[in-house]
Amino acid sequence: MRKKIVAGNWKMNLDYNEGMALFSEIANMVKDEITGSQQAVICSPFIHLNSLVQLAKGYDKIAVGAQNAHQNESGAYTGEISAKMVKSTGAEYVILGHSERRQYFGEDNQLLAKKTDTALANGLKPIFCIGETLEEREAEQHFDIIKTQLQEGVFHLSTEQFAQVVLAYEPVWAIGTGKTASAEQAQEIHAFFREEIANNYNQEVADNTTILYGGSCNPRNAAELFAQADIDGGLIGGASLKSRDFLDIVKVFN
Ligand code: 13P
Repeated sequence: MRKKIVAGNWKMNLDYNEGMALFSEIANMVKDEITGSQQAVICSPFIHLNSLVQLAKGYDKIAVGAQNAHQNESGAYTGEISAKMVKSTGAEYVILGHSERRQYFGEDNQLLAKKTDTALANGLKPIFCIGETLEEREAEQHFDIIKTQLQEGVFHLSTEQFAQVVLAYEPVWAIGTGKTASAEQAQEIHAFFREEIANNYNQEVADNTTILYGGSCNPRNAAELFAQADIDGGLIGGASLKSRDFLDIVKVFN
């Protein structure tokens, strides 16, 4: 059975002390709510990672992840952080391909394919984000955009490598806007993801891939979204900064 994941993406929020406090609060609240093959992941700014990994040691169902990592192994890239550095903190996951990185930092599918390779080579599990903009959806290009992002970003991976990847469908128009995709809209795209995975790999690989929904997911809409056959959890932005909201989203699977 594929893993169910509720992942928080803290984005560029919380200073060091605030991050420690929120993580401790979340860990204590969710520890008894995470059952079976479920996992919670907190993706924090880089500076929090090492300490969060230490804090997470008492909680086997709570993992830590970064929000980015460089495509090269090392070198003269002032201000950048490598996948090896992220891994050395004990972090397990790394978000790649987030629409904010695509939009504000010019990350395209080719670069993201390289970042994915480097992350995997260093033992990190990518949470690879895919999604269309509002203009693309209105022009009815969303299936093509998603297919291209999948093909160019992750479908070059071997079956073994792809097994380490978690996918996240994040329609750009739903991120931070309070406008969530309806459960039907999200399910339609998640089923399409799975179909494309089956075409590129096989049905077994498709059935084993965890596909998260992200975009204004909150305690009020999570139950309906996560009840869909192909939605295996969420990548949560704003609501992951409030321990109570994050807890309520984790509890949806119980
Ligand atoms: P919001 O939940 O704030 O819409 O953000 C979603 C997101 O971008 C998670 O990666």
